[in-house]
Amino acid sequence: MKDMAMDMDMGMGMGMDMGMEMGMAILCISGEVGKLVCFYDAKSFVREGPAQMSLAELEPALTFCNFLVYGYAGIDAETYKIKSLDPTLTHDRQHYRHITDLRKKYPHVRFLLSVGGDQDMDSEGVADSGKYLRLLEQPEHRKSFQASVLQELNSNGFDGLDLSWQFPKNKPKVQQGVFKRVWGSFRGFFSSTSVDEKAQEHREQFAALLGELKSDLRRSGQLLTVSMLPHVSAELFIDVPTVLGHVDFVNLGTYDFQTPERDPKVADLPAPLYEMYDRNPNHNVQYQVQYWLNQTSQISAHKLHVGVASYGRAWNMTRNSGITGYPPIPATNGAAPAGRQTVIPGLLSWPETCELLQQQPKDRDVPHLRKVGDPTKRFGIYAYRAADDKGENGLWVGYEDPTTAAIKAEFVQSRGLGGVAFHDLSLDDFRGQCAGEKFPIMRSIKFKL
Ligand SMILES: *[C@@H]1O[C@H](CO)[C@@H](O)[C@H](O)[C@H]1NC(C)=O
Ligand SMILES: *[C@@H]1O[C@H](CO)[C@@H](O)[C@H](O)[C@H]1NC(C)=O
Repeated sequence: MKDMAMDMDMGMGMGMDMGMEMGMAILCISGEVGKLVCFYDAKSFVREGPAQMSLAELEPALTFCNFLVYGYAGIDAETYKIKSLDPTLTHDRQHYRHITDLRKKYPHVRFLLSVGGDQDMDSEGVADSGKYLRLLEQPEHRKSFQASVLQELNSNGFDGLDLSWQFPKNKPKVQQGVFKRVWGSFRGFFSSTSVDEKAQEHREQFAALLGELKSDLRRSGQLLTVSMLPHVSAELFIDVPTVLGHVDFVNLGTYDFQTPERDPKVADLPAPLYEMYDRNPNHNVQYQVQYWLNQTSQISAHKLHVGVASYGRAWNMTRNSGITGYPPIPATNGAAPAGRQTVIPGLLSWPETCELLQQQPKDRDVPHLRKVGDPTKRFGIYAYRAADDKGENGLWVGYEDPTTAAIKAEFVQSRGLGGVAFHDLSLDDFRGQCAGEKFPIMRSIKFKL
């Protein structure tokens, strides 16, 4: 089986016979595909203003989600115990409990608590991968973590643990002038030790941690899952067959390949489905999925979930960015101004993008964005407004909408993968401001699964 999976070219060249073989494999495991994993960023509960999502506003999503992943908990740097990142919310205001109590109304949903997710910061406000590595290194740290996890899950009514482990990320490519692209040198990049010289050890220790957690959690019927963060290299940190053996599923970090934070000077499609010409060959959904499939048998494909974002990534276009909008866009000037609701620079929730697309010139002193679709269904869509004569008001956003998200869900179906991991509910249109329907992107995914 393993050899067969290795030989299978899951890409464009898939022949009829292979398609039928796959179809049979899918039939055998049909109970385990078509899953929708919904990430819930708890910060959305305490955001100021219109981006705040109440429990009542969250609820309609739960009809559709198979899993709700609560993001995020952290790790204590001294004791290596799991800790709340907002104790006032989770303990004093009982927010963990209020979430898991939704099980009474939505008994089909399993509630997971996720650790990490780039939200566990050090004192400088930077996602702290150091303590995540130190925890792995010592068996007694792992034990401390494990015991605290069981305690935290049980006392708050969670059905399991998700590890959105804060491994160190691949460094962004150094910009050497916008179009001097040297992708050739990327091929050997991931085997380099520049990100973590002890990667090999950490890879073994992470697998060991999962093995240890698994036996405890299984005993109490609880789930263990892993969510890869974008730009964390599976090549470096994940022993794929062992990890897949220990967990219920893995959510792949197949989004945010390009962001204004990593690539302030070049705007590009954040999460293409297939490889684009003259781009990093690893920065697309297909490559990431294929990497995992290559390391295991097709039968484990149902444990792989494709990450799909609900938001867009937005850059400022300058006068030197041209007027065509055709990516990659040179000479951008970092993150575009924050949207009116979420107030996060460089990020636009779906209702915020939708509003910018619809906005009439009379509403504001700048024209609305021009949308450019993707008839090939392979790379994704964007919208833009070139900079004006003064070099101002230029904006470029690459985003998902209900149509592109459905294309990714179809990809998941056609490959016999387990489902979609949706990031996240609070950045979908949970009030139905755009077209009247609540959670349109999430629904569109579910409809295809
Ligand atoms: C998967 O395996 C095939 C066949 O060995 C290889 O050509 C391809 O490059 C591999 N893809 C990835 C993403 O590892
Ligand atoms: C981006 O453009 C807006 C005006 O459209 C401007 O207010 C903002 O300062 C610009 N951001 C950067 C990083 O230059």
